[in-house]
Amino acid sequence: MSQRSVVAVHLVHGFRVARPKALLGHENFEYLLGALRDVISLNPSTVFKSFRISAAGSDSTVFARLKTGIADALALDYSQGPAQLHVAVRRPPDGSDGWQVLVRLTPKPMASRPWRVRDYPGALNATIANVMVRLARPSGGNNFLNLCCGSGTLLAERLDYAPAALAAGIDNSTHAIQCANDNLLAAGYGNRSLLLRGDAGHAPFPRASIHEIVADLPYGMLVDTKGQIDHLYAAALSETSRIAAPGASFIAITVRKKLFESALGSVREQWKSVREFQVIVPSVAGDISPTIYCLERT
Ligand SMILES: C[S@@+](CC[C@H](N)C(=O)[O-])C[C@H]1O[C@@H](n2cnc3c(N)ncnc32)[C@H](O)[C@@H]1O
Repeated sequence: MSQRSVVAVHLVHGFRVARPKALLGHENFEYLLGALRDVISLNPSTVFKSFRISAAGSDSTVFARLKTGIADALALDYSQGPAQLHVAVRRPPDGSDGWQVLVRLTPKPMASRPWRVRDYPGALNATIANVMVRLARPSGGNNFLNLCCGSGTLLAERLDYAPAALAAGIDNSTHAIQCANDNLLAAGYGNRSLLLRGDAGHAPFPRASIHEIVADLPYGMLVDTKGQIDHLYAAALSETSRIAAPGASFIAITVRKKLFESALGSVREQWKSVREFQVIVPSVAGDISPTIYCLERT
């Protein structure tokens, strides 16, 4: 799969209807079933077991009837969580009349990676990781460091994109390092990456030696370690400032905007802000909107 920064590809079907209720009408419903069968038929017959509908008001009676109708007609289970067949119902984003039904063309989101042999709570969506490593301006002769590397998503995406002189990850959890090790071995990058168990505030690299730094700092959502996280953000930013080479890129993602910006305040004169934007990331607890910060060492 070469489209590594693509989240998903959907077929968009337009319906000239005023409300989603009209999708239950015989003609529209048969058309919709045909659209779903087309996608199912692109894959081996055993692949699609469940479906999911995303829509504003998807818990209404109209959507309950749509779900039952689809489940009965296609012999699929309805799933509140991940499902092979993904259907979204929305208003056309250009503001025109009617409603659109989007049907995802692949049974898995395109962020799924064959190298992920170890799941890890809080693992970064690989599509977002891919975008982050590209924003860090990857180049073959560069030293790359992933602070708080968890299961190695950013390292695998970085090495998929281009070789690096050094590709290192640091995490203070033994379990995370084991997961990263297994994932990187499965990706074929076992001997091209260096995994260190340690604190993000003490990276064992010389001053001004790293050209690309990426960090998916803990959000404090999975474990309540608020006090530790406050300290970690300040320590990680101070350490990043020490090890970053002049002109180095630092790409960080977090939902803890205030905390990140307050920690950045202490090292502000050492970093130029290149850009900052929010992304929507599906998570087990529902969609979250972290910010990606793109900084350059002065
Ligand atoms: C959001 S997770 C990173 C997930 C990772 N990007 C992945 O795809 O698997 C944050 C990571 O920060 C690590 N962490 C927490 N405190 C740390 C510290 N003081 N030093 C280094 N790593 C730390 C946690 O063990 C966790 O793996």
